Amino acid sequence: MRSFAGRDILSLKDFERAEFFHLFEVADRLEPIARERRNTDLLSAKTLVTAFYQPSTRTRLAHEAAMLRLGGAVTGFSDAKMTRAGDFYQESIKDTVHMLEYYGDAIVMRHFQQGAPHEAARWSSIPVLNAGDGWGEHPTQVLTDLYTILKEKGTIDGLTFVAIGDHRMRTMHSLGYALSQFDAEMVILSPEEMAPLPEFLEELDDKGTAYRIVDHIDDVIADADVIYMEPVVQPDYTQSRQEKQDEYGLTPANYQITQEVMKRAKGDSIILHSLPRMDELLPEVDDLKHARYWQEAYYGVVMRMALLASVLGAME
Ligand code: CP
Repeated sequence: MRSFAGRDILSLKDFERAEFFHLFEVADRLEPIARERRNTDLLSAKTLVTAFYQPSTRTRLAHEAAMLRLGGAVTGFSDAKMTRAGDFYQESIKDTVHMLEYYGDAIVMRHFQQGAPHEAARWSSIPVLNAGDGWGEHPTQVLTDLYTILKEKGTIDGLTFVAIGDHRMRTMHSLGYALSQFDAEMVILSPEEMAPLPEFLEELDDKGTAYRIVDHIDDVIADADVIYMEPVVQPDYTQSRQEKQDEYGLTPANYQITQEVMKRAKGDSIILHSLPRMDELLPEVDDLKHARYWQEAYYGVVMRMALLASVLGAME
């Protein structure tokens, strides 16, 4: 297994099974710190730089919270408009990264351009973590999701994932790549205009991810062990920012999880949603035993602790 020390976390395409389990094991070792709401000094000599060119609540703050739990410092920006990359100069990623690499020991970057964190990693002498790049990938989110599933169900192997929503989404891509390393099936349900791209499906074929495409929630809800959701009413992820319009669509019933739909689900199935949500996941579902998205938020901090401790060489 490759060492995580000094490594960029850009994609789950090249992640091996042993690497997933290694991170899960590091997360297990660090989890008591988060559970007991303690701060430690494991990364007290380190600084994380956040470079967010697109809005975020969870991903940025979970990385920051993880760094603070481990005693590290955080600097950075959450709105590129307040930097030279977002004003008259439109400073390049290369020039920006050549500054940021002197301000800290790892960079976590979200960008509206697919491949931007990869470009940053080309020029950076410190590890770069991809916090979501356009429609590309969202590796730290899917590592969080898989860790949540392992904790909640005791296994990832043998499970049927019903992935509902916009399959152009970066989480869906990282999930599809990751599941190639597990004995699990991905069942794809999306509106036609949000179907996975043929190139992505070819990649899943090449990697050996087991998947099938279905048309209706009724065809699969009884098979689901994990209901993995993304909105279908959402912004264009290739834009730096999109304000909510006065008029916007509602989620068709076929892509919605409600209390009524969940009556037909397995009793021990779980629902994950990386959030934020629109009307695809109604608040009435929050009260069901299946809901695990708040646990997912908690494990989001734990997984980012594991990632930061690993890439910064504090945990082997
Ligand atoms: N799930 C997720 O990426 O949330 P944020 O956009 O709030 O970071």
